[in-house]
Amino acid sequence: MNVLDTLARPVRDLRISVTDRCNFRCSYCMPKSVFGRDYAFLPRAELLTFEEIDRVARAFARAGATKLRLTGGEPLLRRGIEDLVAMLAEIERIDLTLTTNAALLADRAEALKSAGLDRLNVSLDSLNDRTFRSMNDVDFPVDRVLEGIGAATAVGFAPIKINMVVKRGVNDGDVVEMAQRFRGSGHIVRFIEFMDVGTTNGWRLDDVVPAREIVELISAAHPLEPIDPAYRGEVAQRWRYQDGSGEVGVISSVTQPFCGDCTRARVSADGKIFTCLFSATGHDIRSLLREGADDEALDMALTSIWQKRNDQYSELRSAATSSTAKVEMSYIGG
Ligand code: GTP
Ligand code: 5AD
Ligand code: SF4
Ligand code: SF4
Repeated sequence: MNVLDTLARPVRDLRISVTDRCNFRCSYCMPKSVFGRDYAFLPRAELLTFEEIDRVARAFARAGATKLRLTGGEPLLRRGIEDLVAMLAEIERIDLTLTTNAALLADRAEALKSAGLDRLNVSLDSLNDRTFRSMNDVDFPVDRVLEGIGAATAVGFAPIKINMVVKRGVNDGDVVEMAQRFRGSGHIVRFIEFMDVGTTNGWRLDDVVPAREIVELISAAHPLEPIDPAYRGEVAQRWRYQDGSGEVGVISSVTQPFCGDCTRARVSADGKIFTCLFSATGHDIRSLLREGADDEALDMALTSIWQKRNDQYSELRSAATSSTAKVEMSYIGG
């Protein structure tokens, strides 16, 4: 079954947040001033259980999803995540993947691989230890993240996509070094424009480094040429090194939005469906699950939510929309 929204977009990619907690406090995502010691994270009873997540994932697969991505917060903080991976890996014809900050990856890579995880994306904002420690704001050393990437490579994850959020005056000086470090490694670095997600990260247009500028910076050192998307609705624009040493990507959701092809749905850790990263409210699916809804009722609920969808926030972004209420990125997982 292929459900389409009001703009004829199918649902292909489901991003499932398994926890709203994170061991980092990146200022562009979970600034300490807001996510401090007394911040009220979701209590355990509010979280979807693995069985509930599995039911939602299967319902989305029936509606047309072909990719499942586990996110957080930091998904490796959810106890027993490998067991969830093993459950979801049994869903047929699904690309099962996870986005992590890799702080805990070195010890977990092997278990994730054997549980059936297909792919991994790792967030890494700088190779400069001082810059990295200050961006994660918990003084976490970059070497441990690199160890995590190394361990994941050793157990056979390839290519790993390395996500770097670029902020003007903070880490834009590290772009070329990051590209060089992974050039020829088989992994793919993707440079992400700093986005105005949520309401707490102090976003300003001046802090955004346009994707075009990033491509020019890298290309000046190692010439690049554009290549076609790997699949419809891919968020990253792909560029390959002309000398054949691999590819990089840029995610330009501010300067060149890609809502027209947006096939993503998100489920928060407490079971709300969000049809856009910039939505203010989600559709509660947990109540339905806990009231004992059968698969047919679940399918009907999903279909009705998706068929009403008309989101295109990034294409309509303006001074008026960017100050409206929005959900936090750490809650729905980017
Ligand atoms: P693959 O291409 O399958 O590897 O995954 P992906 O790029 O969809 O996943 P990933 O978690 O690595 O996403 C990278 C980043 O792209 C996210 O963290 C966001 O910053 C951005 N992004 C992903 N989806 C959307 C979206 O729907 N809208 C906007 N505006 N940005 C998005
Ligand atoms: N702008 C762009 N990307 C962001 N991420 C988190 N917050 C933002 C933001 N404000 C990225 C993370 C990670 C992914 C899940 O989302 O760095 O790679
Ligand atoms: Fe945690 Fe990722 Fe947000 Fe950083 S960007 S605080 S690692 S969820
Ligand atoms: Fe999709 Fe919303 Fe992002 Fe546009 S802004 S690409 S509709 S998630």
